[in-house]
Amino acid sequence: MGQELGAIEQDLRVSKGRVIVKIPASTANLGPGFDTLGMALSLYAWVSMSASEITKITLLGDNLTGVPLDKSNLVYEVAQAVFHKAGIEQKELDITIRSDIPLTRGLGSSAAAIVGALVAANTLIGSKLTDDELFQMATALEKHPDNVGASLFGGLIVAAWDGVRAEYIRMDPPAGLDVLVVIPEFELSTKKARNVLPEQIPLSDAVFNVSHSSLLTAALAMGRLDLLRYALRDKLHQPYRAALIPGMTTILQDASKHGALGAVLSGAGPTLLLLVEASDSPREQLVNFVTETMAKEGIKVTTRWLDPCLHGPRIATLEQGHPDFLREPQLVLPATEVEVRV
Ligand code: HSE
Repeated sequence: MGQELGAIEQDLRVSKGRVIVKIPASTANLGPGFDTLGMALSLYAWVSMSASEITKITLLGDNLTGVPLDKSNLVYEVAQAVFHKAGIEQKELDITIRSDIPLTRGLGSSAAAIVGALVAANTLIGSKLTDDELFQMATALEKHPDNVGASLFGGLIVAAWDGVRAEYIRMDPPAGLDVLVVIPEFELSTKKARNVLPEQIPLSDAVFNVSHSSLLTAALAMGRLDLLRYALRDKLHQPYRAALIPGMTTILQDASKHGALGAVLSGAGPTLLLLVEASDSPREQLVNFVTETMAKEGIKVTTRWLDPCLHGPRIATLEQGHPDFLREPQLVLPATEVEVRV
């Protein structure tokens, strides 16, 4: 948005307060919807940001090992991109990041960091950028709209990006859906998981994915959970990525025999995601099945039951002197929904 001479003078100040943002994790693809479908999950990261005299970056929790503490930090860089776009200069920032989302596991940790940085920085400057501008920036940074869309808007996202502009529709996930995530102990970078994909695929595989992705989207919109087992199948990325994740093929094939509606690779993996009907959820049987299958391959996993998250970022703005001003972000905006104090 260029500023024209004579345009209404903008307030270019940065708030003196502290902004805390809680951002949901996300799963991408949901099987056939490669780079298209995303769903927010009830697992969170937090970004706290305030203007400062010198830049200071604090990392909390066990999931952020190796994350840079200088101005090459992703959250810092994305915040600067927001200020730049809004025509505001604020080089020094005090940033705290906490993440319950494991890194490089296919649960949208980088998308959550990008969305947290965009929303925190934008709130700090009085929300000069629109949600659409934030979504466009997030998509361009992440290079696909599925994870960032889910973290930014919550719920289920159907998105398309042509490399210039992203469009999306947000839907509420069908009621009564439980999610089991199976997180292997090893990391898998998105880059590596994209590098195993072929440059070209047969037309029949393309048709398979267009039809299944479309059917899946309609089934989710209409609450047709009975169709998920059929509609979650994919020929575009999962067959190629399976070689990187021992045990994945068995779990995708057999999850429905153990009570799941279906199973998919979460994003680029290595996490596997099982969708389960909440009402008749054979939880223990399913956890034993996935744990034993992965153990046969020599892989330890952490399993977690999650819910689809219906909301995007939660935001708290604390003025200096507020009793919570110095508290850790996850204590101000807890993972469970007893919030928001400002
Ligand atoms: N849609 C992306 C992929 C998600 O599958 O590569 C990566 O997080």
